[in-house]
Amino acid sequence: RKRVLSGVQPTGQLHLGNYMGAIRNWVNLQEQYDTFYCVVDLHAITAPHDPVELRAATRSVAATYMAAGIDPAKASIFVQSHVTAHAELNWLLECVTPIGWLNRMIQFKEKARKQGEDVRAGLMTYPVLMAADILLYQADLVPVGEDQKQHLELTRDIAERMNGLYGGKKWKKRGGRGGNIFKVPEPLIPPAGARIMSLQDGSSKMSKSAENDASRINLTDSPDAIRNKVKRCKTDSFTHLEWDNAERPEATNLLTLYQLSTGKTKDEVLSDIEGKNWGAFKPMLADARILQMTITMTSNEEVLSDIEGKNWGAFKPMLAVALTHATATNTDIYMPLRCHC
Ligand code: AMP
Ligand code: TRP
Repeated sequence: RKRVLSGVQPTGQLHLGNYMGAIRNWVNLQEQYDTFYCVVDLHAITAPHDPVELRAATRSVAATYMAAGIDPAKASIFVQSHVTAHAELNWLLECVTPIGWLNRMIQFKEKARKQGEDVRAGLMTYPVLMAADILLYQADLVPVGEDQKQHLELTRDIAERMNGLYGGKKWKKRGGRGGNIFKVPEPLIPPAGARIMSLQDGSSKMSKSAENDASRINLTDSPDAIRNKVKRCKTDSFTHLEWDNAERPEATNLLTLYQLSTGKTKDEVLSDIEGKNWGAFKPMLADARILQMTITMTSNEEVLSDIEGKNWGAFKPMLAVALTHATATNTDIYMPLRCHC
């Protein structure tokens, strides 16, 4: 069977971006592949951190994996630092990786800019450790969000460089194994949800490290917190809803969240909203009815037609309920686990 490996850093609460971009797909993959899901605590220490909080967050992230539907009977859930071979392979790979490759990493440049004086060497070599995580398991597929694409390309480059330098027949004659040393992995980036944006700014990514908690929906947020955050989230001055208008990133983001929370395809959503005017408020009773319908939505039933004639005010409570539905399904598993964290 093909192998899958991925990881999340225990640097804070996991949010809907982590879920839509990565973890949701991990759940599906565990049915068909040998899956390895790691809590990458060694990556989390590349930035200033509190070690006591890191320990708690490491357990909490592992618990969240399970709450999101990853079954320890099907997938291997583990902590990166517990398998010392990650750090060992990291060193071997660092010794073949040109510094120039690391200098080009967008995420390094962004994080280094934010951290100012306190940029540590580990922040720069971070993507090499990520390559070690993946190559160590000879993973075929790596399910991640859009922001990890460049790191995956680097992983592929490092694997090819190792294979070129130390693999192949030339070494076999001198006692080597011959053949490739590492499998060259493929990224698995979802067509929708690979880049979920902040609820407060449609042009910046939803992130664990953003100061304003209202900018993200955490997977551990209560239904009330979700409703509140969606109620307060940024919209625009248009009265109708619309997708893929570059001037309306918030609309695209919220419709994407809605689509992913309902399980509809983008085409289904687009054909539903084509040529529609969503201007008018509906009475509260009508809203309540729609909320009810949204709650019970588990399959690909026609739902967006119900948004016809609705404006932001009517759409937000629907989105809040859909998100609650999407994130809170496994709270019964999560709650007891959280007590142990
Ligand atoms: P991190 O929070 O940086 O440890 O990311 C863990 C996983 O979640 C990676 O696969 C990221 O690509 C993915 N991810 C993080 N933020 C987002 C986001 N806003 N939208 C989609 N995927 C994300
Ligand atoms: N760098 C990834 C992130 O921040 C986390 C990560 C570390 C990872 N090692 C990995 C993801 C291996 C996939 C595979 O999102």
